[in-house]
Amino acid sequence: MADLTLTGKNPTSLTADALVVGTCSTSDGVAVVADQLPAALVEQLETLAPRLGVTGARQEVRTVPAGKDVSADVLVLTGLGERDADGTFDRETLRGAAGAAVRSLAGSRSAVVALPAVDEEELGAVVEGALLGAYAYTAYREEKAATKLAPVETLQVATPFARSARAKAAVTRAEVLAAAVHGTRDLVNTPANDLYPASFVDAVKSAVKELGVKGVKVSVLDDKQLAAGGYGGLTGVGQGSARGPRMVKLSYSPPKPTDKVALVGKGITFDTGGISIKPAANMGAMKSDMAGAATVLHAVLAAARLGLPVAVTGYLCLAENMPGSNATRPGDVLTIRGGKTVEVLNTDAEGRLVMADGLVSAVEDGHDVVLDIATLTGAQMVALGKRVGGVMGTDDVRDEVKVAADTVGELFWPMPLPEELADGLKSKTADIANVGERWGGMLSAGIFLQSFVGDTPWAHLDIAGPSFNDAGAFGYTPVGGTGVGLRTLVGFLEGRGTTD
Ligand code: BES
Ligand code: MN
Ligand code: ZN
Repeated sequence: MADLTLTGKNPTSLTADALVVGTCSTSDGVAVVADQLPAALVEQLETLAPRLGVTGARQEVRTVPAGKDVSADVLVLTGLGERDADGTFDRETLRGAAGAAVRSLAGSRSAVVALPAVDEEELGAVVEGALLGAYAYTAYREEKAATKLAPVETLQVATPFARSARAKAAVTRAEVLAAAVHGTRDLVNTPANDLYPASFVDAVKSAVKELGVKGVKVSVLDDKQLAAGGYGGLTGVGQGSARGPRMVKLSYSPPKPTDKVALVGKGITFDTGGISIKPAANMGAMKSDMAGAATVLHAVLAAARLGLPVAVTGYLCLAENMPGSNATRPGDVLTIRGGKTVEVLNTDAEGRLVMADGLVSAVEDGHDVVLDIATLTGAQMVALGKRVGGVMGTDDVRDEVKVAADTVGELFWPMPLPEELADGLKSKTADIANVGERWGGMLSAGIFLQSFVGDTPWAHLDIAGPSFNDAGAFGYTPVGGTGVGLRTLVGFLEGRGTTD
């Protein structure tokens, strides 16, 4: 991750490849907004900007020559849109503008970021956005190409709060979150020939070691132990692949936890659909079907690194959905952990099968609340598009997740669990079927999961769309794995950790 420091110095005096300043649109044109920028330079830029067609709109990033009064080589003007009524910019706007600017500097080594932040929270948002934008996935590129794509290595953020303790704490939090988001993105981007259930387990172990997190315990069930333990969802989905399923339990427990939270993640390392095979077009994106598990892994690690007062256990449900000769067939009946039977009408609705085992395990272990996160349904994208995740569950937990998402600047929207959809999941043979009626597919999947959580307060996050960006990069979000959901989970845990 980029090395980041705060500085109270005049940003124009700092040597770097680039100096990032904000622009915003006003009633009479463009204003340049940056902390501690000399008035003469601001005036110069405000005259120049409209002539260059710079409007100050969000997502607008323009690089211009720096001129003799600036020590950096170039100036990057990044758009903040219009000011809020109180004259400031909301935190997600700051994150996006910082991230887009830093992202545009891939291939450069250093940047100074001078965006307006009126307090330590806003400063934290600028730092977080900059770090989130300083990401590239280059593991499979030859050296020359990788160097060109490489993110900025050194970031200096200019702020009047450089010496404040709260600012330092905000930087630490931003660094932990960004490392967790980057870790999630890396796993999502890793091709499925290298990331399969057993190698995911290795990745878990090395992430725990690498981040030097204390107090996190890892236990693993392999395919034989899963079969013996009655985890019929993971076993049934994984049996079509030569690379067997795993379940990882990852727990962080602080001395006197305020709460016990379970996080369950869908970890289908590749989803071909199984015997109900998917069409060829874009199937490659299904390497990202383990985004939920990657998010849970890094949320647990982030909670530990932040020393949150909440006990967190992650359940990673890892399997590869392949149409091998031993694969589960449509019509087969699986027995989920705990004894409930499921008729598999469509082997492509595999996520809910592995998640059922994970949810039952979480409930068995006893938690105050269970959250699950999964790239569960294409219907999520039909309902909410590619950028907004769906959240369903017990009313108050669902609302708590929505509040957490709003607080951290992620897009989730509450969705209902209409009880009549349960009728569509009735099976002629088993306790429940794994597909329901055609309409409202995201909700039927939610109803299916709900039948495995009993009375435990619970929410389900469907991140099928937002977890993987197959369009262009925007703000701090790169192409490929996005890490969406990570900050919402950590925000939720932070909310649980406050006692008032
Ligand atoms: N992993 C997919 C859902 C998905 C689709 C995630 C596209 C991201 C992008 C899931 O396993 C799936 O195939 N769901 C089916 C369920 C259906 C058979 C009831 C779907 O949504 O089509
Ligand atoms: Mn599927
Ligand atoms: Zn899937």
